[in-house]
Amino acid sequence: MSSIPHAELEAFRTEFPILQTRTYLNSCSLGALSRRSMGYLGEYQALWNTMGASAWYELWMGRIGQLKQTVATMWNADEKEIALSPSVSGALSSIASAIDYTKRNKIVVAELDFPTLVYQWLARNDVEVVRVPSDDGIGVPPERWAEYVDERTALVATSHVFYGTGYVQDLAPIAKAARDAGALFLVDGYQSAGQIRVDPRAVDADIYVAGPLKWLCGGPGIAFLWVRQERIAELRPTIASWFGARDQFQFRNDELEFRDDAGRFSMGTPAVPTVYTALGGLEIFAEAGQDRIYERIAALTEDVVTLAQEAGFELKIAEDPARRSGIVLIRNDDAPAAVRRLADKNIIVDHRAGYVRVSPHFYNTPEENRKFIAALRG
Ligand SMILES: Cc1ncc(COP(=O)(O)O)c(C=O)c1O
Repeated sequence: MSSIPHAELEAFRTEFPILQTRTYLNSCSLGALSRRSMGYLGEYQALWNTMGASAWYELWMGRIGQLKQTVATMWNADEKEIALSPSVSGALSSIASAIDYTKRNKIVVAELDFPTLVYQWLARNDVEVVRVPSDDGIGVPPERWAEYVDERTALVATSHVFYGTGYVQDLAPIAKAARDAGALFLVDGYQSAGQIRVDPRAVDADIYVAGPLKWLCGGPGIAFLWVRQERIAELRPTIASWFGARDQFQFRNDELEFRDDAGRFSMGTPAVPTVYTALGGLEIFAEAGQDRIYERIAALTEDVVTLAQEAGFELKIAEDPARRSGIVLIRNDDAPAAVRRLADKNIIVDHRAGYVRVSPHFYNTPEENRKFIAALRG
């Protein structure tokens, strides 16, 4: 099963206290909190207690820079292409504010995308939102995108992994459809970052947004925004913050000059506690190794799929294992009650629209999968 030797895996598991007391199989909702992140949080509190405001200038700003650099390294990007936002919604709002809709006013999304990705444009009255339909409610045929994208399209925006089915989209044909029509291509990677390979430039995206709270075990309060270097200058936001200003500490309020880098999309003072907890999560991610993590999640996913099928459950997942990820939907007549019943047995999963949703991470084990399926049958 594992590309991570047993002793090493056990050491990683002791990093996450929740694994000692719970069968935790809900990382696509919230990745587990690590001792490493708690240690970082302690450092943040100690600095606040001892240094007060000078912690800002001397140390916290440094940690913010370190987080951006770590994300850049993880995504094969330049630090100048990375901005921090309070949430994916915040990052999307800044990008949505920067697009010129006068010549192109169509936004193309998928029927299966997470609502907040679509809301940015539904909230505007100067654009038309077109949703690419799904036939099976699981994925969207990649060739279909080209039928919906045309010379009126300003932006194609969709998920790398669909939150409701775990379906991994093949981004190349979508990027090509956008590129051929002269539209921008934005990817919501909230459900991909930390569980499958993310390399925004390699998939020909213009904008890639994700956050650390799920598969990167970094906690809520911050999102990561990547904007392709070549696009930054032409995207001038019409919502702003002083963190996005070129000479932030000049405190000028008679003019606004945006930063030349992706920092122009920043939305104010970052959530420093999450900067610290995210550093802990990303540190463990780097130590465990991306490839080994992805391999292990894929193996645990196939394992839980097989167990569920053998137990006679109906699943809502991609037929092709290459399009699956660590989010597995299992049909249940009363999914909320099933999730509560499992929680009473210290097994933590989630539910979405008539399905129990289970999401094994690299720190889980086949034994935990078995325990979950046995309890679900019971
Ligand atoms: C794919 C996807 N995008 C966005 C979000 C939420 O974004 P935000 O940071 O704005 O809450 C989620 C949350 O579950 C998600 O699964």
